[in-house]
Amino acid sequence: MKVGIVGAGMVGSAAGYALVLRGVASHVVLVDRNRDLARAQAEDIAHAVPFASAASLVEAGDYAALAGAGVVILAAGVAQKPGEDRLSLLSRNVAVFSEIVAEVRAAAPEAMLVVASNPVDVMTLFATRASGLPPARVIGSGTILDTARFRWLVGQHLGIAPQSVHAYVLGEHGDSEVLAWSAARAGATPLAGFAAQVGAPITADVRARIDAGVRGAAETIIRGKGATWYGIGAGLARLVRAIAADERAVLSVSMRMPEVAGVTDVALSVPRIVGAHGVEADLFPDLSPEETAALARSAMILRDTARQIEQ
Ligand code: LAC
Repeated sequence: MKVGIVGAGMVGSAAGYALVLRGVASHVVLVDRNRDLARAQAEDIAHAVPFASAASLVEAGDYAALAGAGVVILAAGVAQKPGEDRLSLLSRNVAVFSEIVAEVRAAAPEAMLVVASNPVDVMTLFATRASGLPPARVIGSGTILDTARFRWLVGQHLGIAPQSVHAYVLGEHGDSEVLAWSAARAGATPLAGFAAQVGAPITADVRARIDAGVRGAAETIIRGKGATWYGIGAGLARLVRAIAADERAVLSVSMRMPEVAGVTDVALSVPRIVGAHGVEADLFPDLSPEETAALARSAMILRDTARQIEQ
């Protein structure tokens, strides 16, 4: 599959690198208004191809070079500054997105859009409206990374592979996100029972530490190196692989929803089946009353923030 990436900064180039290493894309095109940056990133990634699991063509180009792409990743925009929360990026990124969506739709009308720019849920909503595409074909990375962080920290605590932790983060990719502890499993065993079995109980302190570790991961990394890119880059490649290979994989990604938790017209993440046609179904987990209320709060925050775009 040909995959376009608009925005050759750290997130976009990390996604391109991950796509190439995993052999997900046969052709990667990087587009950026900074043409020198796009060319340099493309050439650097191309030098990884000989070490990858499959051959890929990697190049920089203008919007016209996106023609024929099956997926275009929208990773353009400005990065979060230390201390700045995602939603405060809003006005800066909406301006960038308005021109990009139109250009991409003109160059690659068949392409599915994968939104990575923050605040990703609001940008997913905006990109859906601007694109005219069905919501199922405009997918935000959403909480795919938060879910990975949740699984990583739980796996570390239990001494098992994060791939064997089946736990999801729902709602906003941001401060109001909801860790669905009540639905979490290790293998086929409910988390609490498994934790007790292996002598690593999920105490209130453990739960608070993991919760804080997931919510605060980006801020911690940003303070140390200015931005995050490897985790999200790998998450984007995982999402594109589900589309390119028609996997029908269950991933917590963001998509515009007519109504969720009593809030209308909002984009947020729930576990979803993702395949060649984009989002194929939502798989709402059974949540505790507290988690359901937290999801409603998250939806309301996103709705109120999205209204800032409309003003
Ligand atoms: C993070 C960025 C991708 O959570 O929002 O690292």
